[in-house]
Amino acid sequence: MSQPTIESILQEKRLFRPAEDFSSAAHISSMAQYQALYEQAAADPAAFWAELAEQELDWFQKWDQTLDWQPPFVKWFVGGKLNISYNCLDRHLTTWRRNKAALIWEGEPGDSRTLTYAQLHREVCQMANVLKDLGVKKGDRVGLYMPMIPEAAIAMLACARIGAAHTVIFGGFSADALRDRLNDAEAKVVITADGGFRKDKAVPLKAAVDQALEDNAVPSVAHVLVVQRTQQEVNWQADRDVWWHERQPTASADCPAEPMDSEDLLFILYTSGTTGKPKGVVHTTGGYNLYTHMTLKWAFDIKDTDVYWCTADVGWITGHSYIVYGPLSNGATSLMYEGAPRASNPGCFWDVVEKYGVTIFYTAPTAIRAFIKMGDELPKARDLSSLRLLGTVGEPINPEAWMWYHEVIGGGQCPIVDTWWQTETGGFMLTPLPGATPTKPGSATKPFPGILADVVDLDGNPVGANEGGYLVIKHPWPSMMRTVYGNDERYRKTYWEHIPPQDGQYLYFAGDGARRDEDGYFWVMGRVDDVLNVSGHRLGTMEIESALVSHPAVAEAAVVGRKDELKGEDVFAFVTLEGQYSPSDSLKAELKQHVVKEIGAIARPGDIRFADALPKTRSGKIIRRFLRNLASGEEIVGDATTMEDQSVLDKLREEA
Ligand code: WTA
Repeated sequence: MSQPTIESILQEKRLFRPAEDFSSAAHISSMAQYQALYEQAAADPAAFWAELAEQELDWFQKWDQTLDWQPPFVKWFVGGKLNISYNCLDRHLTTWRRNKAALIWEGEPGDSRTLTYAQLHREVCQMANVLKDLGVKKGDRVGLYMPMIPEAAIAMLACARIGAAHTVIFGGFSADALRDRLNDAEAKVVITADGGFRKDKAVPLKAAVDQALEDNAVPSVAHVLVVQRTQQEVNWQADRDVWWHERQPTASADCPAEPMDSEDLLFILYTSGTTGKPKGVVHTTGGYNLYTHMTLKWAFDIKDTDVYWCTADVGWITGHSYIVYGPLSNGATSLMYEGAPRASNPGCFWDVVEKYGVTIFYTAPTAIRAFIKMGDELPKARDLSSLRLLGTVGEPINPEAWMWYHEVIGGGQCPIVDTWWQTETGGFMLTPLPGATPTKPGSATKPFPGILADVVDLDGNPVGANEGGYLVIKHPWPSMMRTVYGNDERYRKTYWEHIPPQDGQYLYFAGDGARRDEDGYFWVMGRVDDVLNVSGHRLGTMEIESALVSHPAVAEAAVVGRKDELKGEDVFAFVTLEGQYSPSDSLKAELKQHVVKEIGAIARPGDIRFADALPKTRSGKIIRRFLRNLASGEEIVGDATTMEDQSVLDKLREEA
């Protein structure tokens, strides 16, 4: 019998049921079990989470109150004391896991390193003591600007251990972006490296930190702790800069974990929004620890025999929750990879899977689409038979990519766990439980137990099956963001005021459009606000527009997303120039470079179009909808009569 084609499978609307041998060995092994957990949690979410918190985490002191919900501000496990680095390290040391691999690191070029739980614990304690020596105290903030090396995870855990909050800034952000974030967080110390390896090149990191701190631009920073990675030349400021390798040999490995209040700040992670500068999403200790622990355990069915690899960077929430905290809290083996597929080594991911016998592999649709382009030969030439579960995150996965992932990488054997979540949610919200939930290509399926998700209209009324609406969450969950750092009002406005409460129940507004099908499966459609999703990275259109208008040639800028086969979406900018400037290719290139300087390479516009004027309403608002149509070469959809000047559109069309 011939294999069905991908098209015929899609037309069949096939369900992929978990294989029996997978289910029988899984933590959650049937839909009946999922349903029971879901209903138990929905009936009394606080009791549900309290029971798990007791079972799964170690506490120095039990909480007095499980949930304190004063919308939109939440507290979980109030009065409880714990330390996430204790839960990720110390508690495993008294078990056989002491000598189990905690982190497996595959570096570039050709480096590798494995740290057992005992070794990782030792290094975390040493770094924690060095931070203390540098004056870092409980409640302080520490900025991390790191390549993908074990020291990135060590630094996060060291901060958590002494009760300092970390704010990790993705190594691809520019010095300007770094400066803004360090200032907003008022970081006391920055941990960085001389450089990191990216796509066969040693890229400088310390130099960007120097630039960010120039002229005392971040007055809160007293020291920079530098890991030697690439051996490249660095400038040195003796009263400020400290080498990690000079401190480590003499640093004490004795550093008991600080008892933290469940609601003490664990980290700030900046993410793009619709307005203004990126916002610092605040996560606290207890709820975040519990939720990342539980979601990894049940949705990825993590076991002691697994070699688990998440390909994200620690600079994003996925790296925080699912390279560092979730896996280590579970005592799992987490693989960290410094490299990325590139022309000189397109099969590197599959080499890593083969080399370490990776069993669980978690990546993004944009990567999967890139692999499809590279051809089946690369994965087929490697032994991928160790894989037993595949995960995806970052954007809606197109069914074609899902099917390829399933067939070519998973050999038709591995459940695909499509996880919908956000920086703000801390952990997976919509996800299959692989031993229970039948999957549909392109759907993140159902809510995790304890998550009450819905699709509603702007008034908060649930929409019918298969009707589009806004994705909302109806009850607080443990790893929910607590606020925007230093800006409670912005938190309230961004997430809680778009949609009014229903019967006194507040609705968390995720910013995504979705529909729910006749089986109750969620299909997330993408952002409904002015946030772009470029290769799974969130970028605010406003942020890029501000970067563009900060260039002297630019009078006005409007940024929209243009559909892109690989990236999902690409940055497309419309720009009007100041009188004395005229359009040219060199100016285009200069403006692109300007955005790279202001934000980082991830925000570089794929294209810029110069315009005499931008389409606006009579009240002066730029009509982005039209620009989106123009950027994608589509017909203009919608009513153009509200426009102030009709000829603007004709002109823009002509120039296309
Ligand atoms: C999108 C990343 C569809 C979504 C963890 C969300 C997804 C934003 C999925 C958050 C998915 C993430 N299916 N869309 N499985 N996962 N998204 O904060 O638009 O970087 O709002 O968190 O990515 O991006 P963030």
